[in-house]
Amino acid sequence: MAPVTGYWIAGEASRSDETFDVHHPYDGSPVGTACYATDADVERAVAAAHACRGEFAALPAHARASALDHVSRRLAERAEEIARLITAENGKPIFWARAEVDRAVSTFRWGAEEARRWSGELQRLDTDTGANGRMALVRRVPRGPVLGIAPFNFPLNLAVHKVAPALAAGVPIVLKPAPKTPLTALVLGEILAETALPTGSWSVITTTDEKAPELVADPRLPVVSFTGSGPVGWSIRDAVPRKHVTLELGGNAAVVVDSDWTDLDFAANRIATFAMYQAGQSCISVQRVYVHRDVHDDFAERLVKAVEAQGTGNPISEEARVGPLIDVTAAERVEQWVGEAVDAGAEVLTGGVRDGSTYAPTVLTGAPEDSRVSCEEVFGPVLVVEPVDSVDDGFARVNASRYGLQAGVFTRDLQLAFRAAAELEVGGVVIGDVPSFRADQMPYGGVKESGSGREGVRAAMNDLTEEHVTVLTGIAV
Ligand code: SIN
Repeated sequence: MAPVTGYWIAGEASRSDETFDVHHPYDGSPVGTACYATDADVERAVAAAHACRGEFAALPAHARASALDHVSRRLAERAEEIARLITAENGKPIFWARAEVDRAVSTFRWGAEEARRWSGELQRLDTDTGANGRMALVRRVPRGPVLGIAPFNFPLNLAVHKVAPALAAGVPIVLKPAPKTPLTALVLGEILAETALPTGSWSVITTTDEKAPELVADPRLPVVSFTGSGPVGWSIRDAVPRKHVTLELGGNAAVVVDSDWTDLDFAANRIATFAMYQAGQSCISVQRVYVHRDVHDDFAERLVKAVEAQGTGNPISEEARVGPLIDVTAAERVEQWVGEAVDAGAEVLTGGVRDGSTYAPTVLTGAPEDSRVSCEEVFGPVLVVEPVDSVDDGFARVNASRYGLQAGVFTRDLQLAFRAAAELEVGGVVIGDVPSFRADQMPYGGVKESGSGREGVRAAMNDLTEEHVTVLTGIAV
């Protein structure tokens, strides 16, 4: 029998008899066995986070930074083992799993750097006569322990985006990984346990999603940071309106290709790669492509070739670029949505075939705007390419979405780039590349139904904390 991977309560290994198996999304083979945290252990994790909040906030920056540096280093040392685990439990190709580990190494390194920089500012108050000789010291202090709920699509790096900023800002965290991909986060726990971080400053608990509402409601966790689906995210916001809730939700990311963009092969390759990477299971994978009519036909031909060149198959193979979806149900849903679009008049330019949990990289055109492949988040390897008469037309199509995470614009026109930044209703605009570009230190998050709040190490630290003012009087300013 395979050994059971335990969970982490207040920095200590723990386990229960209630085990569950994790399966490989590609072929259903067993990957490992984990166990659900008992109610008593969950209580211990929350109580410990609450109890250590003062001690952790007061921990010197060097102690927090050196723990974060340690985790960064150990992730790098164990990179190949962790990448293989990500591939096994999530199904993403090893090529992308390695990229995810590299990003997590960087996210922790940024956490260490931000922990050292985290200082606050002085604000002069003698701008009015009543405040002569006064100055304010403005610092950010923890709002309180955070419940981090991580998704399955980046089992490591999206968990790390909860953990690293929390530890950097002195905020205790209780992390709940996705039930389908808990093993990577539990390895992260192993590495965190090698540090001297205070007892209670972190826990990694495996619980079912059904248990999450209890944790969300717990007053000892005044902050909730959730990454996942829109309906779940907004229900959290509605359930705890007085808590500070950060929501990183879905999107149907769009890109506009203007006629001034001459390197159509580059644009086609980038779009094909980042529509299909990890089978489209990223909130910013390219889903909608609006191409100026002058270059549309030429571009669409190159795009289809680039999509067909994406290697599919067993995700552990070095050539694979597109693996399975997280499970057969997810692939069946994608199949159904493509079928509906085709029934409504869309044409399949390539793909459109399901084999178990794998869905072939698919390009559609002529999909009605109200078809689900256009207006909902597909979260699968499907993109829709459509001609537009002008950039303005393209921008209007981007903005017609109820989501707004990131958008890409392929243009060489600087003024248009600034106009895109001003007019596109999204959290981030990428000029000359796909909306899927994300550097882990940059603010990342959405508007409209894509969420609220920002991740990216510094931005998340801001989100986890609030300003506190100390007024100094009778001083020479
Ligand atoms: C996401 O799916 O929201 C995260 C995308 C990324 O980190 O690249």
